[in-house]
Amino acid sequence: MEPLSKFAFNNNQRLMKPKILVTGGTGYIGSHTVVELQKSGFDVVIADNLCNSKKEIVDQIEKITGKRPKFEKVDLKNREQISQLFDKNTDIKGVIHFAAYKAVGESMQFPLMYYHNNLFSLINILQVMMKHNINNFVFSSSCTVYGNPDYLPVSEKAHVKPAISPYGNTKQMSEEIISDTVQTGNLRSISLRYFNPVGAHNSGLIGELPFGIPNNLVPFITQAAIGKRKILKVFGNDYQTPDGTCIRDYIHIEDLAKAHVAAIERLLKLKQKDDYEVFNLGTGKGYSVLEVIKAFEEATKIKLQYEFTERRPGDVPQVWADSSLANNELGWKAQKDLRDMMKSAWKWEKNLEAGKIF
Ligand code: NAD
Ligand code: WQD
Repeated sequence: MEPLSKFAFNNNQRLMKPKILVTGGTGYIGSHTVVELQKSGFDVVIADNLCNSKKEIVDQIEKITGKRPKFEKVDLKNREQISQLFDKNTDIKGVIHFAAYKAVGESMQFPLMYYHNNLFSLINILQVMMKHNINNFVFSSSCTVYGNPDYLPVSEKAHVKPAISPYGNTKQMSEEIISDTVQTGNLRSISLRYFNPVGAHNSGLIGELPFGIPNNLVPFITQAAIGKRKILKVFGNDYQTPDGTCIRDYIHIEDLAKAHVAAIERLLKLKQKDDYEVFNLGTGKGYSVLEVIKAFEEATKIKLQYEFTERRPGDVPQVWADSSLANNELGWKAQKDLRDMMKSAWKWEKNLEAGKIF
């Protein structure tokens, strides 16, 4: 493998802005990561087919950073399109791979669509990277790989449980594909297992953009608060948790995005302890659904209408992260609290409603 440090850094160890390809870079997590990469001095090219995002996000990113990232409309299921992108951008030094379908329920309805998109995209990008001798790869994984964990907080040492959904299975299979590819000696990689990313950029210019009825709690809360949805359903209040509702480790999207900068820098600076590493990204604190509702109400002074309904199939009662490995090895720690998450999510929702974004 080519020693990447020689072109990533000069003699003074100052960053010379290597180019990073961000797949899915107009999506929710991708767009926030592009902002943080640009703020850290990286040159960014986005590849996205816009199946779950909008091209205008590129304008929004430019408004925040003052720099327009390059955008290529590429469907990662098509290897030829990826090859052409790499032929045009011969100076790419690393890839952060977000592009995937992500809705758990939808994946149960359309498993083949999920396996096709998430796995073909991954295999194609890795094959093209290998051909172009590009060795640094950051992958979006998920706490879903832990299923219902045997102990809490859950660390990276915990067993990967049989996946509950095809979506979850694509993450497990993807991690295995990456790990096997690393074994060839031609790839270095970091998989980041996100807990529950929520909130929006503090500028209110980018955020989560659920098409249709949101599956996830926080976008549903903000849409209910603004009047787009009638009533928030709390899925189950008979769990073995202090208030009977499920507990999750919610992490602010800006904190999450910053971890990707730390991960790609670790790869470029050859700081890995193993050629394949896995890190949990969470705050280490769990909050129940009712605590999230309360935090939203306190942060916005808006009273939410909600009702308790049946449990949602596949929901685990509680999960939160041991992120000490990421804290120690990536030098990264989540800084923002639940209030910041709620305030920023609300600002974004209000901007969307006011037509300030699109
Ligand atoms: P998102 O849907 O907002 O972003 C994904 C982006 O990928 C979209 O812009 C979409 O258009 C693009 N895309 C999908 N398939 C593509 C293809 N074949 N070719 C090109 N572009 C394609 O989702 P997100 O929330 O930003 O998630 C990003 C990644 O993080 C995904 O891999 C997801 O599974 C993972 N993840 C998300 C969460 C979460 O709660 N949001 C949690 C854990 C892991
Ligand atoms: C959070 C809590 C719900 C909506 C999902 C994926 C996971 C990962 C993150 C990608 C749960 C409750 C929700 C609502 C509710 N994504 N809830 N009413 O399920 O923890 O994780 O997103 O990798 O794989 O499964 O997140 O936001 O959907 O739910 O009561 O209308 O809110 O039951 O307890 P989840 P979520």
